[in-house]
Amino acid sequence: MDNRPIGFLDSGVGGLTVARELMRQLPHEEIVYIGDSARAPYGPRPAQQIKEYTWQLVNFLLTKNVKMIVFACNTATAVAWEEVKAKLDIPVLGVILPGASAAIKASKSGRIGVLGTAMTIQMDSYRKKIQALSPAAQVESLACPKFVPLVESNNYQSSLAKKVVYETLRGMAGKVDTVVLGCTHYPLLRPIIQNVMGKDVTLIDSGAECARDISVLLNYFEINHSRTEEPLNHRFYTTASPVAFRLIAENWLGKDIDVEHVEL
Ligand code: DGL
Repeated sequence: MDNRPIGFLDSGVGGLTVARELMRQLPHEEIVYIGDSARAPYGPRPAQQIKEYTWQLVNFLLTKNVKMIVFACNTATAVAWEEVKAKLDIPVLGVILPGASAAIKASKSGRIGVLGTAMTIQMDSYRKKIQALSPAAQVESLACPKFVPLVESNNYQSSLAKKVVYETLRGMAGKVDTVVLGCTHYPLLRPIIQNVMGKDVTLIDSGAECARDISVLLNYFEINHSRTEEPLNHRFYTTASPVAFRLIAENWLGKDIDVEHVEL
């Protein structure tokens, strides 16, 4: 047993899609979440800068005495996960491997679409992982740089969002049977993405898949939180406005939360 919290990091509110899955799948675990909304999106930034910011988020989480760190951000996973994982002595999980494995399992035709930020697509991490596990798979990757700003500005259900998603994805519709939502912000756009891709296309939420891996690791290292009747003290931190963060977070998580501003 280990009653320390699990740390989550993201460039902003996207990692909440992973945190929500964790709360659903493992309701006894406590969460410390840091979103760097003041500097989002990370996707268009140079790799070195993303790495630097990611280390700042990691170091912040370490001050909160976390037992595990989850990179609830594909971009940070693509750029910095290997390095951080090698340096820390607690488990560090990324979202790309679980998403890649789930896509292979779900696809019948072997034609898989991957949506991600400019950096995630440039790093080609999903294609590499998917083809390492399943060499015959055909991967069509697409950077969607307009998606994250729609989510961060709480416009992810707007008619502008519908227009942007349609214009970005229409070229991929009909070509793949499975699409990886390779950015943790994208599940907030899921109904619109599903609508454009068609109802027969399977959407893979890399964050949800990651929550299953968290469970496996907690069991493996025997570091589950003990079951208690006491309410858990989830903590959420943002580098931008706590009001804006809380608005999106409470809507997405379906519960009231405390959000604190933090300078990194
Ligand atoms: N949510 C992040 C991801 O999964 C980052 C998006 C961004 O800041 O560009 O890639």
